[in-house]
Amino acid sequence: MADLNNYSILISILLTISIFIWRSLQISRAAGRRTVRLPPSPLRLPIIGHFHLLSLKLHHSFYKLANTYGPLIHIYIGSVPCVIASSAEIAQEFLKTHDLSFSSRPILSAAVLYLAYGSADFIFSPYGPYWKFMKKLCMSKLLLSRRCSELENEATEIREMIEEITRLLGKLDLSDYIWFCKNLNLQGFRKIFEQVHVKYDLMIEKIIKEHEVDRKSMKDDMGSEDGSRHQMKNILHILLDISKDDGAEMRLTRENIKAFILDIFLAGTETAAITIEWALAELINNQPILEKAREEINKVVGKSRLVEESDIPNLHFLQAIVKETLRLHPIVPITLREAIENCTVGGYDIPAKTWLFVNIWAIGRDPKHWKNPLEFNPDRFFGSDLSNLDMRGQNFHFIPFGSGRRGCPGITLALQVVQTTVAAVIQCFDLKNDNGTNQVEVDMTEAAGALTLARANPLNCTPVPKLDLLPLLN
Ligand code: HEM
Repeated sequence: MADLNNYSILISILLTISIFIWRSLQISRAAGRRTVRLPPSPLRLPIIGHFHLLSLKLHHSFYKLANTYGPLIHIYIGSVPCVIASSAEIAQEFLKTHDLSFSSRPILSAAVLYLAYGSADFIFSPYGPYWKFMKKLCMSKLLLSRRCSELENEATEIREMIEEITRLLGKLDLSDYIWFCKNLNLQGFRKIFEQVHVKYDLMIEKIIKEHEVDRKSMKDDMGSEDGSRHQMKNILHILLDISKDDGAEMRLTRENIKAFILDIFLAGTETAAITIEWALAELINNQPILEKAREEINKVVGKSRLVEESDIPNLHFLQAIVKETLRLHPIVPITLREAIENCTVGGYDIPAKTWLFVNIWAIGRDPKHWKNPLEFNPDRFFGSDLSNLDMRGQNFHFIPFGSGRRGCPGITLALQVVQTTVAAVIQCFDLKNDNGTNQVEVDMTEAAGALTLARANPLNCTPVPKLDLLPLLN
């Protein structure tokens, strides 16, 4: 609340200053008309640009702007030029036709500089040799199995810290976007970033040291790193191996390792957990859908064993429930890229260095592609042109995992965890709202935060066992 008050006061002050100088700038702007053809844009104020039109739910603000100005618009966040893509067709032009030109990410904020070791990580790193090396590693070794979940289990105590870092990264800090305020720390966030960074660094350093000891004993045990215990290596062991390998294509620094582990915690823990929460909340509010999913599980799996990952390909309705959840509640509602070079999209000029926001959330509820878009209806994925819709970024009206080179490398892992967990909960429990009656709808309000789409209120429900669980666990 204090954040919001600070934010409103600052906006008001800057707004007042802006209006004073607006008229004079209008005159000079008219004199120096640009020759580039930029996408449509709302009225821009000096200094703050279009900051006054944005809220802490950026995807909602962008959605409103798109409804007035169209699916491709141009805005300034402070002095940063940005474009916003809000339709499948425009998203396809950016993420497929011009994939390479938009494969970089900008340094989003001071939060990234402090918390992600100056973008020494993977998620926020610019397109270049380091990103390419890490991408190859993710696809060949790091994100194929549950190696990262093993690491999560080892460090469950850091969950709160990760939640805090996610919240901090999602803040809109005015100092980041107004060029002459870059060093001013207007809202006082930077002290907090520094404190949280120091806390994370201490913790990850301790975990790395433990893994170094582990690694040494693995080597001593086997005499060779390729022995059978290799199977037990988790993601951190592999990163340490690469950092010590003189023949590696690229030498990873300790900061790269710490920042990458932060990425995995950020991208890998909350995303799946919050998606599961949204799915269960929708099921509580749509009991006939819950019942239909349970019937499918009972038919395919039976009641004598627990549903497993290998059952998922046969659970088509369950898969549709997860798709519908990600359509309405994409945990990453907006993806951010940066133009590497000048290009032309939708007939407009997009200069190099422009930030690109793709509003995944808005695209998933575009009535042009989705009938009754606000309705939670998994049946929409059957017997229509949506039946073969995949989530890997080829169908641009449904891109919960993004698309192209910078698309989510954790998709297989994420779907395994979300689908299997939701299936197991449906199989084992009746879900009632927290008052235990099914009478009151679960509140579906979204939390404020620019990066992830969390629930405003945690899901409180009463799981009533449906099956005798003990034999299943055996
Ligand atoms: C339901 C779960 C998840 C959703 C909806 C999701 C969605 C996304 C989206 C939309 C992006 C941006 C893509 C783009 O710019 O086109 C992204 C990036 C990323 N995701 Fe996920 N994600 C999920 C889970 C995971 C998991 C489990 C991991 C890893 C353990 C992961 C790792 C990453 C990484 C490393 C990136 C950055 C890729 C890059 O910049 O090249 N994600 N994710």
